[in-house]
Amino acid sequence: MSAERTFIAIKPDGVQRGLVGEILGRFERKGFKLIGLKQVVPSTQLASKHYGVHKDRPFFSDLVAFITSGPVVAMVWEGDGVISSARKLIGATKPLEAEPGTIRGDLAVNIGRNVIHGSDGLDTANFEIALWFESSELADWTPADQIWRKEE
Ligand code: RTP
Ligand code: MG
Repeated sequence: MSAERTFIAIKPDGVQRGLVGEILGRFERKGFKLIGLKQVVPSTQLASKHYGVHKDRPFFSDLVAFITSGPVVAMVWEGDGVISSARKLIGATKPLEAEPGTIRGDLAVNIGRNVIHGSDGLDTANFEIALWFESSELADWTPADQIWRKEE
């Protein structure tokens, strides 16, 4: 297995607002492959590890409190260039600065309720996938149209 993978999470605001199908659909329609999917209410320990890079920032405790406040839909998506492409699909951190057409640009207004998380690099993706998923929860499969999904 050498294909690139990224970790994506629909945050509690996205789940509460009924945006799961809308967001999943964007990744499906783009042509990425769904490798793992589950709904989980994260523990404080999990959320603190996930956002550990921000532990000294003033918003850290609010961020962890919010992410642990309800269900999160955790996903692993695979495909060529999926890490940076997913960040483009997601849009800028501040929803009011996110371009229309992006998830945050279309669906959010508030930085603290910006609907979705995506890994920001290869090391982060590997760390986050291992943090949120057991390997037995990930399915390595070959879509029937796999040949069309490759970058030429
Ligand atoms: P994420 O990790 O959730 O995908 O978001 P990101 O990479 O676009 O942004 P990042 O800098 O990693 O920030 C993580 C999350 O922390 C919240 N935040 N609040 N109040 C603030 O100034 C502030 N700054 C960041 C956001 O929810 C952001 O997504
Ligand atoms: Mg981030």
